[in-house]
Amino acid sequence: GLHTLADFPVGVAVPIDPWPNSVLQSPQRQALVEQHFSSLTAENGMKMAYLQPEPGQFEFGAADALLAYAKAHGLILHGHALVWHTQAAPWMDAHQGPAGSFTEILDAHIQTVAEHFAGQVHSWDVVNEAFTDDSPSAYRSTIWLDNIGPGYIERAFRLARAADPSAELYYNDYNISGALPAKLERVLAMLDDFLARGVPIDGLGFQVHIDTDSPSLSAMYDAFASAAKRGVKVRISELDIAVNQSEQYRALTPELARLQAERYRQVVQVYLQAVPPAQRGGITLWGLTDGDSWIPGFKQRPDWPLLFDDSFAAKPALAGMANGL
Ligand code: XIL
Repeated sequence: GLHTLADFPVGVAVPIDPWPNSVLQSPQRQALVEQHFSSLTAENGMKMAYLQPEPGQFEFGAADALLAYAKAHGLILHGHALVWHTQAAPWMDAHQGPAGSFTEILDAHIQTVAEHFAGQVHSWDVVNEAFTDDSPSAYRSTIWLDNIGPGYIERAFRLARAADPSAELYYNDYNISGALPAKLERVLAMLDDFLARGVPIDGLGFQVHIDTDSPSLSAMYDAFASAAKRGVKVRISELDIAVNQSEQYRALTPELARLQAERYRQVVQVYLQAVPPAQRGGITLWGLTDGDSWIPGFKQRPDWPLLFDDSFAAKPALAGMANGL
Protein backbone atom coordinates (compact mmCIF):
# COMPACT_ATOMS: atom_id res chain seq x y z
CA GLY A 1 0.00 0.00 0.00
CA LEU A 2 0.84 3.70 -0.31
CA HIS A 3 1.96 4.18 3.28
CA THR A 4 4.69 1.56 2.97
CA LEU A 5 6.41 3.84 0.43
CA ALA A 6 6.76 6.75 2.87
CA ASP A 7 8.69 7.31 6.08
CA PHE A 8 6.00 9.74 7.26
CA PRO A 9 2.26 9.35 7.88
CA VAL A 10 0.09 8.98 4.79
CA GLY A 11 -3.48 9.65 5.78
CA VAL A 12 -7.03 10.08 4.63
CA ALA A 13 -10.03 12.00 5.92
CA VAL A 14 -13.07 9.83 6.53
CA PRO A 15 -16.68 10.39 7.51
CA ILE A 16 -17.59 8.85 10.86
CA ASP A 17 -21.01 8.01 12.30
CA PRO A 18 -23.66 9.31 11.78
CA TRP A 19 -22.54 10.58 8.36
CA PRO A 20 -23.47 8.63 5.26
CA ASN A 21 -20.39 6.73 4.06
CA SER A 22 -19.06 6.43 7.61
CA VAL A 23 -15.88 4.40 7.44
CA LEU A 24 -17.08 2.48 10.48
CA GLN A 25 -20.06 1.14 8.49
CA SER A 26 -18.26 0.53 5.20
CA PRO A 27 -16.19 -2.64 4.68
CA GLN A 28 -15.04 -1.38 1.25
CA ARG A 29 -13.68 1.84 2.73
CA GLN A 30 -12.04 -0.04 5.58
CA ALA A 31 -10.26 -2.28 3.09
CA LEU A 32 -8.77 0.75 1.32
CA VAL A 33 -7.87 2.46 4.59
CA GLU A 34 -6.09 -0.60 5.91
CA GLN A 35 -4.25 -1.25 2.66
CA HIS A 36 -2.99 2.26 1.92
CA PHE A 37 -2.95 4.56 4.92
CA SER A 38 -1.24 5.02 8.27
CA SER A 39 -3.21 8.02 9.55
CA LEU A 40 -6.87 9.02 9.80
CA THR A 41 -8.67 12.33 10.20
CA ALA A 42 -12.40 12.70 10.86
CA GLU A 43 -13.63 14.72 7.87
CA ASN A 44 -16.26 16.45 10.02
CA GLY A 45 -16.95 14.54 13.19
CA MET A 46 -14.35 16.12 15.48
CA LYS A 47 -15.26 19.71 14.65
CA MET A 48 -16.76 21.89 17.37
CA ALA A 49 -20.41 21.50 16.36
CA TYR A 50 -20.33 17.72 16.59
CA LEU A 51 -18.23 17.26 19.72
CA GLN A 52 -20.21 19.86 21.69
CA PRO A 53 -23.66 20.17 20.09
CA GLU A 54 -25.17 21.83 23.18
CA PRO A 55 -23.45 23.94 25.84
CA GLY A 56 -21.45 21.67 28.09
CA GLN A 57 -22.83 18.56 26.41
CA PHE A 58 -19.97 16.67 24.80
CA GLU A 59 -20.57 13.78 22.40
CA PHE A 60 -17.46 11.62 22.07
CA GLY A 61 -19.01 8.32 21.02
CA ALA A 62 -18.43 8.49 17.27
CA ALA A 63 -14.91 9.91 17.54
CA ASP A 64 -14.01 7.32 20.17
CA ALA A 65 -15.17 4.62 17.79
CA LEU A 66 -12.88 6.03 15.09
CA LEU A 67 -10.02 6.12 17.58
CA ALA A 68 -10.64 2.48 18.56
CA TYR A 69 -10.73 1.49 14.88
CA ALA A 70 -7.50 3.40 14.20
CA LYS A 71 -5.73 1.77 17.15
CA ALA A 72 -6.92 -1.70 16.20
CA HIS A 73 -5.29 -1.25 12.78
CA GLY A 74 -2.13 0.56 13.81
CA LEU A 75 -3.16 3.93 12.38
CA ILE A 76 -2.56 7.28 14.05
CA LEU A 77 -5.35 9.82 14.48
CA HIS A 78 -5.00 13.49 13.53
CA GLY A 79 -7.50 15.74 15.31
CA HIS A 80 -9.36 18.29 13.17
CA ALA A 81 -10.05 20.90 14.50
CA LEU A 82 -10.20 22.41 17.98
CA VAL A 83 -11.12 25.93 16.84
CA TRP A 84 -12.77 26.96 13.59
CA HIS A 85 -15.45 29.47 12.64
CA THR A 86 -17.20 27.14 10.19
CA GLN A 87 -19.02 24.23 11.83
CA ALA A 88 -18.89 25.84 15.23
CA ALA A 89 -21.99 24.75 17.13
CA PRO A 90 -25.12 26.81 16.33
CA TRP A 91 -25.35 27.70 20.02
CA MET A 92 -21.82 29.13 19.81
CA ASP A 93 -22.74 31.21 16.75
CA ALA A 94 -25.83 32.47 18.55
CA HIS A 95 -24.04 33.30 21.78
CA GLN A 96 -24.10 36.93 22.92
CA GLY A 97 -22.16 38.27 25.84
CA PRO A 98 -18.98 39.94 27.02
CA ALA A 99 -15.54 38.82 25.81
CA GLY A 100 -15.08 36.79 28.97
CA SER A 101 -18.04 34.59 28.14
CA PHE A 102 -16.45 33.73 24.77
CA THR A 103 -13.11 32.87 26.34
CA GLU A 104 -15.01 30.61 28.73
CA ILE A 105 -16.58 28.80 25.76
CA LEU A 106 -13.26 28.56 23.94
CA ASP A 107 -11.36 27.38 27.01
CA ALA A 108 -13.95 24.80 28.03
CA HIS A 109 -14.13 23.33 24.53
CA ILE A 110 -10.39 23.04 24.03
CA GLN A 111 -9.71 21.75 27.54
CA THR A 112 -12.48 19.15 27.52
CA VAL A 113 -11.78 17.89 24.00
CA ALA A 114 -7.97 17.91 24.16
CA GLU A 115 -8.03 16.25 27.60
CA HIS A 116 -10.47 13.61 26.39
CA PHE A 117 -8.11 12.62 23.56
CA ALA A 118 -4.87 13.31 25.45
CA GLY A 119 -2.20 10.76 24.63
CA GLN A 120 -4.50 9.26 21.98
CA VAL A 121 -4.34 11.67 19.06
CA HIS A 122 -1.00 12.13 17.34
CA SER A 123 -1.64 15.77 16.46
CA TRP A 124 -4.27 18.51 16.35
CA ASP A 125 -5.22 21.29 14.02
CA VAL A 126 -5.54 23.72 16.91
CA VAL A 127 -6.83 26.67 14.89
CA ASN A 128 -8.16 26.39 11.34
CA GLU A 129 -8.42 29.20 8.76
CA ALA A 130 -7.88 32.25 10.99
CA PHE A 131 -6.58 34.48 8.19
CA THR A 132 -8.41 36.23 5.38
CA ASP A 133 -7.42 35.64 1.78
CA ASP A 134 -6.89 39.26 0.92
CA SER A 135 -7.71 41.78 3.59
CA PRO A 136 -4.90 43.86 5.03
CA SER A 137 -6.55 43.37 8.42
CA ALA A 138 -5.13 39.85 8.14
CA TYR A 139 -7.22 38.03 10.69
CA ARG A 140 -10.56 36.69 9.54
CA SER A 141 -13.61 38.11 11.22
CA THR A 142 -15.14 35.19 13.16
CA ILE A 143 -17.05 34.79 16.41
CA TRP A 144 -13.67 34.16 18.05
CA LEU A 145 -11.81 37.16 16.61
CA ASP A 146 -14.72 39.54 16.92
CA ASN A 147 -15.42 38.71 20.56
CA ILE A 148 -12.01 37.82 21.96
CA GLY A 149 -9.54 39.54 19.65
CA PRO A 150 -6.50 38.02 17.89
CA GLY A 151 -5.19 36.68 21.20
CA TYR A 152 -7.63 33.78 20.87
CA ILE A 153 -5.18 31.98 18.58
CA GLU A 154 -2.29 32.04 21.04
CA ARG A 155 -4.72 31.19 23.83
CA ALA A 156 -5.92 28.12 21.93
CA PHE A 157 -2.38 26.81 21.39
CA ARG A 158 -1.46 27.29 25.06
CA LEU A 159 -4.63 25.54 26.23
CA ALA A 160 -4.12 22.67 23.81
CA ARG A 161 -0.53 22.10 24.94
CA ALA A 162 -1.56 22.18 28.61
CA ALA A 163 -4.41 19.72 28.03
CA ASP A 164 -2.40 17.29 25.89
CA PRO A 165 1.36 17.79 26.16
CA SER A 166 2.14 14.92 23.78
CA ALA A 167 0.08 16.00 20.75
CA GLU A 168 1.78 17.89 17.92
CA LEU A 169 0.04 21.23 17.47
CA TYR A 170 -0.63 22.64 14.02
CA TYR A 171 -2.00 25.85 12.55
CA ASN A 172 -3.95 24.88 9.40
CA ASP A 173 -5.09 26.99 6.42
CA TYR A 174 -5.91 27.02 2.69
CA ASN A 175 -4.55 28.99 -0.28
CA ILE A 176 -1.15 29.14 1.40
CA SER A 177 0.59 26.50 -0.75
CA GLY A 178 1.42 28.96 -3.51
CA ALA A 179 -1.96 30.42 -4.41
CA LEU A 180 -1.70 33.49 -2.15
CA PRO A 181 1.91 34.17 -1.07
CA ALA A 182 0.83 37.29 0.87
CA LYS A 183 -1.54 35.16 2.95
CA LEU A 184 1.25 32.69 3.69
CA GLU A 185 3.46 35.62 4.73
CA ARG A 186 0.87 36.61 7.33
CA VAL A 187 0.68 33.05 8.63
CA LEU A 188 4.48 32.86 8.79
CA ALA A 189 4.65 36.16 10.66
CA MET A 190 2.34 34.65 13.28
CA LEU A 191 4.45 31.50 13.37
CA ASP A 192 7.68 33.50 13.81
CA ASP A 193 6.08 35.51 16.59
CA PHE A 194 4.87 32.34 18.36
CA LEU A 195 8.29 30.71 18.06
CA ALA A 196 10.05 33.85 19.34
CA ARG A 197 7.77 34.11 22.36
CA GLY A 198 7.55 30.41 23.16
CA VAL A 199 3.91 29.96 22.25
CA PRO A 200 3.58 26.19 21.70
CA ILE A 201 3.26 25.36 18.00
CA ASP A 202 4.84 22.42 16.19
CA GLY A 203 3.89 22.93 12.60
CA LEU A 204 1.89 24.31 9.72
CA GLY A 205 -0.84 22.42 7.89
CA PHE A 206 -1.22 23.30 4.21
CA GLN A 207 -4.65 22.19 3.02
CA VAL A 208 -3.65 21.96 -0.68
CA HIS A 209 -7.11 21.89 -2.25
CA ILE A 210 -5.77 22.55 -5.74
CA ASP A 211 -6.46 21.77 -9.37
CA THR A 212 -4.34 20.57 -12.27
CA ASP A 213 -3.52 24.14 -13.42
CA SER A 214 -2.47 26.02 -10.34
CA PRO A 215 -0.57 26.80 -8.24
CA SER A 216 2.68 26.22 -10.07
CA LEU A 217 5.13 23.65 -8.72
CA SER A 218 7.70 26.33 -8.00
CA ALA A 219 5.16 28.37 -6.01
CA MET A 220 4.30 25.23 -4.03
CA TYR A 221 7.97 24.51 -3.44
CA ASP A 222 8.59 28.04 -2.17
CA ALA A 223 5.61 27.82 0.17
CA PHE A 224 6.59 24.48 1.77
CA ALA A 225 10.25 25.50 1.92
CA SER A 226 9.53 28.81 3.61
CA ALA A 227 7.66 26.98 6.38
CA ALA A 228 10.34 24.29 6.64
CA LYS A 229 13.00 27.02 7.01
CA ARG A 230 11.41 27.85 10.37
CA GLY A 231 12.31 24.38 11.62
CA VAL A 232 8.70 23.34 12.21
CA LYS A 233 6.79 20.35 10.89
CA VAL A 234 4.98 20.72 7.59
CA ARG A 235 1.86 18.71 6.75
CA ILE A 236 -0.17 18.52 3.60
CA SER A 237 -3.37 18.25 5.57
CA GLU A 238 -6.25 18.08 3.05
CA LEU A 239 -4.93 17.12 -0.36
CA ASP A 240 -7.25 16.86 -3.34
CA ILE A 241 -6.62 17.72 -6.99
CA ALA A 242 -9.64 18.89 -8.96
CA VAL A 243 -9.62 18.35 -12.72
CA ASN A 244 -12.81 20.03 -13.92
CA GLN A 245 -11.99 23.66 -13.14
CA SER A 246 -13.04 24.62 -16.68
CA GLU A 247 -16.41 22.90 -16.00
CA GLN A 248 -16.47 21.29 -19.44
CA TYR A 249 -16.39 17.60 -18.45
CA ARG A 250 -19.23 15.26 -17.49
CA ALA A 251 -16.95 12.35 -16.70
CA LEU A 252 -13.31 11.70 -15.95
CA THR A 253 -11.60 11.09 -19.29
CA PRO A 254 -8.48 8.93 -19.55
CA GLU A 255 -6.51 12.03 -20.49
CA LEU A 256 -7.69 13.93 -17.41
CA ALA A 257 -6.94 10.93 -15.25
CA ARG A 258 -3.35 10.84 -16.57
CA LEU A 259 -2.93 14.57 -16.05
CA GLN A 260 -4.18 14.21 -12.49
CA ALA A 261 -1.90 11.25 -11.80
CA GLU A 262 1.13 13.24 -12.94
CA ARG A 263 0.04 16.20 -10.80
CA TYR A 264 -0.24 13.94 -7.72
CA ARG A 265 3.27 12.66 -8.42
CA GLN A 266 4.62 16.19 -8.76
CA VAL A 267 2.98 17.51 -5.58
CA VAL A 268 4.45 14.66 -3.56
CA GLN A 269 7.86 15.27 -5.15
CA VAL A 270 7.73 18.97 -4.34
CA TYR A 271 6.87 18.15 -0.72
CA LEU A 272 9.80 15.74 -0.46
CA GLN A 273 12.19 18.25 -2.02
CA ALA A 274 11.08 21.18 0.14
CA VAL A 275 10.67 19.49 3.53
CA PRO A 276 13.57 17.67 5.23
CA PRO A 277 12.69 14.16 6.46
CA ALA A 278 12.56 15.01 10.18
CA GLN A 279 10.06 17.80 9.49
CA ARG A 280 7.59 15.81 7.39
CA GLY A 281 4.36 15.71 9.32
CA GLY A 282 2.77 13.73 6.54
CA ILE A 283 0.29 13.93 3.70
CA THR A 284 -3.45 13.43 4.16
CA LEU A 285 -5.96 13.03 1.31
CA TRP A 286 -9.29 14.81 1.87
CA GLY A 287 -11.46 11.78 1.23
CA LEU A 288 -11.22 8.26 -0.16
CA THR A 289 -13.40 8.09 -3.27
CA ASP A 290 -14.48 10.68 -5.81
CA GLY A 291 -18.04 10.10 -4.65
CA ASP A 292 -17.02 10.96 -1.09
CA SER A 293 -15.29 14.20 -2.08
CA TRP A 294 -16.58 17.53 -0.81
CA ILE A 295 -15.40 19.30 -4.01
CA PRO A 296 -18.44 18.70 -6.29
CA GLY A 297 -20.78 20.10 -3.63
CA PHE A 298 -18.50 22.97 -2.76
CA LYS A 299 -17.72 23.95 -6.36
CA GLN A 300 -21.21 23.07 -7.64
CA ARG A 301 -19.89 20.98 -10.53
CA PRO A 302 -18.88 17.40 -11.23
CA ASP A 303 -15.29 16.61 -10.33
CA TRP A 304 -13.07 13.61 -9.54
CA PRO A 305 -10.35 14.86 -7.21
CA LEU A 306 -9.26 11.76 -5.27
CA LEU A 307 -7.36 8.48 -5.64
CA PHE A 308 -10.28 6.02 -5.89
CA ASP A 309 -13.43 6.01 -8.00
CA ASP A 310 -16.98 5.45 -6.84
CA SER A 311 -16.57 1.66 -7.16
CA PHE A 312 -13.55 1.77 -4.83
CA ALA A 313 -11.20 1.04 -7.74
CA ALA A 314 -7.78 2.69 -7.85
CA LYS A 315 -7.50 5.53 -10.36
CA PRO A 316 -4.24 6.40 -12.15
CA ALA A 317 -3.90 9.05 -9.40
CA LEU A 318 -3.03 6.30 -6.90
CA ALA A 319 -0.10 5.17 -9.02
CA GLY A 320 0.88 8.79 -9.57
CA MET A 321 1.02 9.42 -5.85
CA ALA A 322 2.88 6.15 -5.28
CA ASN A 323 5.44 7.11 -7.93
CA GLY A 324 6.03 10.40 -6.18
CA LEU A 325 6.71 8.84 -2.79
C1 XIL B 1 -15.33 20.09 4.68
C2 XIL B 1 -15.92 18.69 4.60
O1 XIL B 1 -15.16 17.94 3.68
C3 XIL B 1 -17.38 18.78 4.17
O2 XIL B 1 -18.00 17.49 4.26
C4 XIL B 1 -18.14 19.77 5.04
O3 XIL B 1 -19.44 19.94 4.54
C5 XIL B 1 -17.45 21.11 5.11
O4 XIL B 1 -16.10 20.91 5.52
N1 XIL B 1 -11.22 23.05 4.91
C6 XIL B 1 -11.26 22.30 6.07
C7 XIL B 1 -12.16 21.13 6.15
O5 XIL B 1 -10.47 22.55 6.99
O6 XIL B 1 -12.67 20.94 7.45
C8 XIL B 1 -13.29 21.23 5.16
O7 XIL B 1 -14.03 20.01 5.20
C9 XIL B 1 -12.77 21.53 3.78
C10 XIL B 1 -12.05 22.84 3.75
